[in-house]
Amino acid sequence: MLEISFAKAVLPKGGVMILPLAEGAKLHGLAAALDKLLGNAVKRGMEAARFTGKAGAQAMLLSPKAGFARVLVLGTGKAESFDAKAAEALGGAVVAALAKEAEVVVLADEMDPALAAHIGLGGRLKSYRFDKYRTTLKDDERAKLGKLTILSSDAAQAAAAYAPLSAVAHGVEVTRDLVTEPANVLYPEEFADRCLALKKLGVKVEIFDKKDLEKLGFGSMLSVSWGSAREPRMVVMQWLGASGGLGADGKKVKKPVDPIAFIGKGVTFDTGGISIKPAAGMEDMKWDMAGAGTVTGLMAALAGRKARVDAVGLIGLVENMPSGTAVRPGDVVKSYSGQTVEILNTDAEGRLVLADVLYYAQERFAPKYMVDLATLTGAIIVGLGHEYAGLFSNDDTLADFLIAAGKATGEGVWRMPLAPVGESYDKNLNSAIADVQNIGGGRAGGSITAAQFLQRFVNGKPWAHLDIAGMAWATKEGPTMPKGASAFGVRLLDRLVAMNFEG
Ligand code: BES
Ligand code: MN
Ligand code: ZN
Repeated sequence: MLEISFAKAVLPKGGVMILPLAEGAKLHGLAAALDKLLGNAVKRGMEAARFTGKAGAQAMLLSPKAGFARVLVLGTGKAESFDAKAAEALGGAVVAALAKEAEVVVLADEMDPALAAHIGLGGRLKSYRFDKYRTTLKDDERAKLGKLTILSSDAAQAAAAYAPLSAVAHGVEVTRDLVTEPANVLYPEEFADRCLALKKLGVKVEIFDKKDLEKLGFGSMLSVSWGSAREPRMVVMQWLGASGGLGADGKKVKKPVDPIAFIGKGVTFDTGGISIKPAAGMEDMKWDMAGAGTVTGLMAALAGRKARVDAVGLIGLVENMPSGTAVRPGDVVKSYSGQTVEILNTDAEGRLVLADVLYYAQERFAPKYMVDLATLTGAIIVGLGHEYAGLFSNDDTLADFLIAAGKATGEGVWRMPLAPVGESYDKNLNSAIADVQNIGGGRAGGSITAAQFLQRFVNGKPWAHLDIAGMAWATKEGPTMPKGASAFGVRLLDRLVAMNFEG
């Protein structure tokens, strides 16, 4: 893993160095000192490369002097628009450009130490790799950048600002690892066991097995797992950072006070069940547990940075398989809420899982707000593409909080319609023989129908649903993200908490 540290602003005597420079800016501070030491090679290199300082622009000097292997001048764009996000992109660009180096040093002595910390975050996020199943990778094919040192005018302040960011980055890594694992390795029981690792951060972790869930009466969620050889699980994670119930010592055990509840869909593989999916692209359904993966990473982030909030994370874990014991279209099951559900399509399974977990969450914890995350519908990808998650909410305040956190982190959400129970969109869910059916009439407004179904299980409590089907997996790399599992939602919801719920 990339090691990130902050050090005082003293020009190194050699090595690989990065000079961040804004549009039209002159060399100052350590950068100017380096240029002088190198006989103005930096200035000449910038001219030769027609360096403008535009965000992402680069001028690379190779061995300008013995002992100085590379000097990379990196454009940071307009000075006035250089913010945390831009600093993260800069960190990401450093890692992308210098992946083969063992150690690099960023001369950030002219930068606000708080922003220098975000260079570290961007570098850390961009350097994520999942190589555990590659046995034939040659050494030079593995990313090697081992050490990123950021020189700051106030290294102690930069390091202090980086500490909570590092906890959030760890949360992102937890999520990416879970989401990337194949379904033969990560099935419900294994997922639940991995959640136990959060205990050492001070999170209380409870695992409910099949018997427990049967006793509770989770008939809706359990029906999804009927066809699978793997047993279902529910995991309840509690971080009591405001009421002070649980410290890292794990001693005092209290009930969370007015917690925020996060609920995740954890379908470790979704074949569609008897309403089976077509073969093409079905491998994507290993990441149908991204909602649960995100809730787990979020709990790690909140606990890791000791957020002053009481938060609970609840995840429903099942595998959706077709078999002789699988649930059939037309079957009727009894949900934990007491409502009966007619299952008309076994591929609309995520909502069957969330129905029971959502109802349990509001009943047990009486949360101030509930937010669920789910790779719930293909229709949200048709509607919003890969730019925004769909946001559905019965509470305007919570919806606005989420939209603001989205703008602050770049993990955007777009609000979609939701009708009150009994009205317009909701009526499509009335079943001929049960209280509710799990799909609407046709394909129209499929993501809305799914949200309406969930709403029947939130008991009127303030709640938001994020449909992350288009966001959980990236087929292209981003400034601070390799291809693959994005961990969308960890930073968004961490910020939601930081902006609104930490007093
Ligand atoms: N997990 C899928 C949704 C999905 C599709 C996630 C593509 C990520 C990428 C979900 O369980 C599902 O199958 N939804 C159905 C609902 C339909 C049967 C009403 C869908 O979207 O087709
Ligand atoms: Mn499905
Ligand atoms: Zn699914």
